[in-house]
This record gives sequence, structure tokens and C-alpha cells, in this order.
Amino acid sequence: MNDYYLLGRSGLRVSRLALGTMNFGVGGFHAAYGRSEEEAGAIFRRYVEAGGNLIDTADFYTAGESERILGRLIARDGQRDRLVLTSKFTNSVDPSDPNAGGNGRKHMIRALDASLRRLGTDHLDLYLLHTWDRITPVEEVVRTFDDLVRAGKIRYAGLSDVPAWYAARAQTYAEAHGLTPMVTVQLPYSLVDRAVEPEFVPMAQSLGMGLTVWSPLGGGLLTGKYRRTADGLGGDGRLAGSAVGERDWQVVDALATVAGGLGRDMAQVALNWVVTQPGVASAVVGASGTSQLDASLAALDFTIPDDARALLDEAAAWPLPKPYSMFTPGYQSWIVNPGLTIGDKPAGYAPPVVNGAHA
Ligand SMILES: NC(=O)c1ccc[n+]([C@@H]2O[C@H](COP(=O)([O-])OP(=O)(O)OC[C@H]3O[C@@H](n4cnc5c(N)ncnc54)[C@H](OP(=O)(O)O)[C@@H]3O)[C@@H](O)[C@H]2O)c1
Repeated sequence: MNDYYLLGRSGLRVSRLALGTMNFGVGGFHAAYGRSEEEAGAIFRRYVEAGGNLIDTADFYTAGESERILGRLIARDGQRDRLVLTSKFTNSVDPSDPNAGGNGRKHMIRALDASLRRLGTDHLDLYLLHTWDRITPVEEVVRTFDDLVRAGKIRYAGLSDVPAWYAARAQTYAEAHGLTPMVTVQLPYSLVDRAVEPEFVPMAQSLGMGLTVWSPLGGGLLTGKYRRTADGLGGDGRLAGSAVGERDWQVVDALATVAGGLGRDMAQVALNWVVTQPGVASAVVGASGTSQLDASLAALDFTIPDDARALLDEAAAWPLPKPYSMFTPGYQSWIVNPGLTIGDKPAGYAPPVVNGAHA
């Protein structure tokens, strides 16, 4: 865990495994699988002691309890400055007030002030828009992020759960106007959910955003603790009773084979796979207890051999829709004759200029 990546095109160093705290506390929407402050404290300490620095929460998690618990744990721990403390805004905190949710400037500022109060700190290291509200102009969000950086209330900004075109527009607008860039996009990504690959991964790579991925274990499906039953997933965990498609079982079976061959937990192989996928800066892991977290923290201590990776990729393959299937070698050979050599420049050839600097 003493291995840190720069988050997107920034100078911020983050752990390759982030700590998800959606289950810290027992209030609100996430109450069903929430953890007490004592249990959350043990998970938090284990993560920090292992060298982890990226902490992910949101105002919405456990109806604000996650932030309050974290605030107390961080104060007790006394290492606030070591952490890259991240929170998010979007969800409504008062259903009777139309401006108490969404991504408008008024709510962004109010939500941040409330998060800072709950977390007992005067700034966030990373502040994320939680979900696209389909209303607020991107310029308003980017300008407000920039104002919050200038006011010293946040250090970095990013987006979660937005369409790729929206993230691309935000970044391009920020670049064009010299405003605070988006350093991350936070999205679901795992062996059973690869939807980010055709659009978000190349966008993040080309526009300087590091992917921070949520539900990297598919919410627990990729740990191997569930079995097929007539009533959906059987087993002890938060997904018990959920429906799972045949393709997902195919992935689980391949993962079990690979993990068995490597002598590793399935969860470790699943995490290792996603963290080492192109564009991924960090995986946001959740844990119900310290033993689960311990398993996850050892997930990057080994390398998945090429043949095992190919087995996983094959089991988790999904049909690329058009136009993405047209960006593969078969179609591309219609555009450029594969027999031609293109791209190798003679020594001394001036490289292209990218963003004002030579690439
Ligand atoms: N931006 C967003 O919209 C968004 C959305 C969702 C989550 N997130 C963030 O991502 C974090 C992680 O999300 P997630 O909890 O869905 O991620 P996950 O890592 O895919 O799933 C974690 C869950 O899997 C089970 N698990 C983990 N390790 C295990 C092991 N070794 N053996 C057996 N079971 C194990 C536990 O659930 P049980 O023990 O209860 O079965 C644990 O809570 C959240 O805390 C939050 O910070 C962000």
C-alpha cells in the first residue's frame, strides 16, 4: 500500500486502493448494511495504518452519519493532513426545498459547508459532483468548483456518475478558461461491469482524469461468497436475494479458477484486475469488517499472469455496440491499409504540440 499514483493530470498522490465509507453509520438509505462507529473505526484505522490515504465519503451516505463518524475518527487519529479527504454533493438534504439538492451553485456551496461541519475540517482535498442532475449547465459547476478552490475550501475537483460528454465538456471548458481542472471521474467498474471501457477510459486518459472506480468487487459478488439459488443469490451478504445473469456467473467461475491457480482470494484477483486496467488510478473498496479489508489490502502484492488475465477477459467479454466496434483493428483496416507503415518519424522530427507543450 506504499504505492501512490498521481490522480489524473495533477500533483495529488493517491493510494491505488481508496477506502469507501458508504457503510459507515446506520442511518438513511444505506442503513441495511451499515456499520457502527466502533466497527467503522477499526476499518478506518486498519486502512490508514496500511498506508492508505484516499478516503471516499458523501453527504448522502447514511444520512450524514458517514461524514460525522469520519470527522471524529480523523480527529482522534490526528493525521488529517496525511489524508486525501473526498466528499460529494448532489442528493437532496430537504425534499421540500427545490434548491436543497442538485448541482447548482447555491446547493454546491451549501452542501460543502455542511460536509465541512460534519467532517470537522476547514477544507476537502477532493470534492466531487455525485450524480448528473440533467439540469445545471456545466459552466456553472466548473466555475463554482474554481471559486471553492480559490476560497481555500477544496483543493481538487472531480465528477462522479456523469455522461462522458458532460465530463469532456467540463474539462475542456476548464482548460479553455484556465479554471480548476477535473482530476478524476468516479464510476462503477469491475469484471461484471465494464461499461466504462469504450467511452470513459479513453476520455479520462486523453483529458487527464484518473478513474476512481466504485463497486470494484461488484458489491461482493466477486468475492465468491454467493451461490445460485432459485430465489436469486444465496449466501450471507448485502446482495443476498438479488438476481444475477448467466454472464456474471461465467465471470465468477473464471475468477474462481484463476484465484485457485494463483492461491489468492477471488476478491484479491478481482481488485488486482480492475486496478491494473488502463486509465484506473484507484479502486474504492468497501468492507464490512477488518478481515475483508485485510484481504483487499493485499490485492496488489502480486501480478496476474497474462494467460490468467486472458481467461478473465474472455469470460468477462461483452459485445461492443456500434460505433465502438468500429474502432477495432478489423474496421480500421478499411481506413488505413494495414500493409502501410505509419507513425514512425525520422530522428529529429519535431513532435506535435499538445496543450502548449511538446508531447
Ligand atoms: N460515486 C458513486 O456513485 C458510488 C456508488 C457506490 C459506491 N461508491 C463508493 O465506493 C465504495 C465501495 O462501494 P461498494 O461497497 O459497492 O464496493 P465493493 O468493494 O464492490 O463491495 C464491497 C462489499 O463487498 C463485500 N466484501 C468485500 N470484501 C469481501 C471479502 N473479502 N469477502 C466477502 N465479502 C466481501 C462486503 O459486503 P457484505 O459483507 O455486506 O456482503 C463489502 O461491503 C463505497 O463505500 C463508496 O465510497 C460510490
